Amino acid sequence: MRVSITQLQQMKKQGRRIVMVTVYDYSTARLTADAGIPVVLVGDSLGMVMLGYESTIPVTMDVMVHHTAAVVRGNTKSLIVGDMPFLSYRGNSDETLRNAGRLLQEAGAGAVKVEGADTVPAIRRMVDAGIPVMGHLGLTPQSVNQFGGWKAQGKTPAAAARMLDDALALQDAGIFALVLETVPATLARIISERLTIPTIGIGAGPHCDGQVQVLHDLLGWYPDFMPKHARPYAQIGDAIRDAFRAYSADVQSGAFPGPDQTIDVDPAVFAALEAAPDGAPSTDQPATDTPDPELRYGGAGSGPNR
Ligand code: KIV
Repeated sequence: MRVSITQLQQMKKQGRRIVMVTVYDYSTARLTADAGIPVVLVGDSLGMVMLGYESTIPVTMDVMVHHTAAVVRGNTKSLIVGDMPFLSYRGNSDETLRNAGRLLQEAGAGAVKVEGADTVPAIRRMVDAGIPVMGHLGLTPQSVNQFGGWKAQGKTPAAAARMLDDALALQDAGIFALVLETVPATLARIISERLTIPTIGIGAGPHCDGQVQVLHDLLGWYPDFMPKHARPYAQIGDAIRDAFRAYSADVQSGAFPGPDQTIDVDPAVFAALEAAPDGAPSTDQPATDTPDPELRYGGAGSGPNR
């Protein structure tokens, strides 16, 4: 059974902090399941860290469905939240519902996430249709152009009061959890105390009910930038670069492939072929052989769905 939205709400009541991380592919999703991460967000941050765009704005529904489905295949334990990309929930409500429905029906997500405070009608429509929705306030990346750049939000008394009102309105509309991004820690604490649903912070200090990090920040993998609020728990980027260099050196020196990576049979099997000047001699033997399980990607029976 996957983690449910009710379990997250119980975690808040019990004071157990919620762990969430962004993931975009099958293999990493499998590792999050092994590590017991309860919530995985397929964030539209993939536009930047996976696809190399400058912001999340170019990301489309098709891209989100494609990546969310891969994560759902890789992780059968966590709640998988699919991010709704720019403009996919701001048109008419039928279109919003169709788009959210794709993340659940086509990709298999358990919930969707939308950014901003102006989403109350869209949230109500989705929740009424049975779609669990996560909200997102603060420095919401899809509005970066409107904010005039990457700036912390809610820093003045008026902006903070507005964000608290917005959070209450989103909760009232039916969201099951709220991401608070790049807001002062004190404001995040006040909002977390006022809401009955869990808050999940990113750059919002230690008082939220949970924390989310972008995968590439957490693993030290994104070569362009490391935000102030991130703490790398590994240096995967360095490890990958070192591996590429070692592989290149081995290929160039002839050290790869070695005997363990080499498939061969008794050379006598090919003696006639080698001796034939004009191509393969005719043979009665079948052209195909029995399957070789060691050559199958992932090995026989290794995936969660195999
Ligand atoms: O897209 C994303 O990764 C997000 C997180 C930063 C919360 O929305």
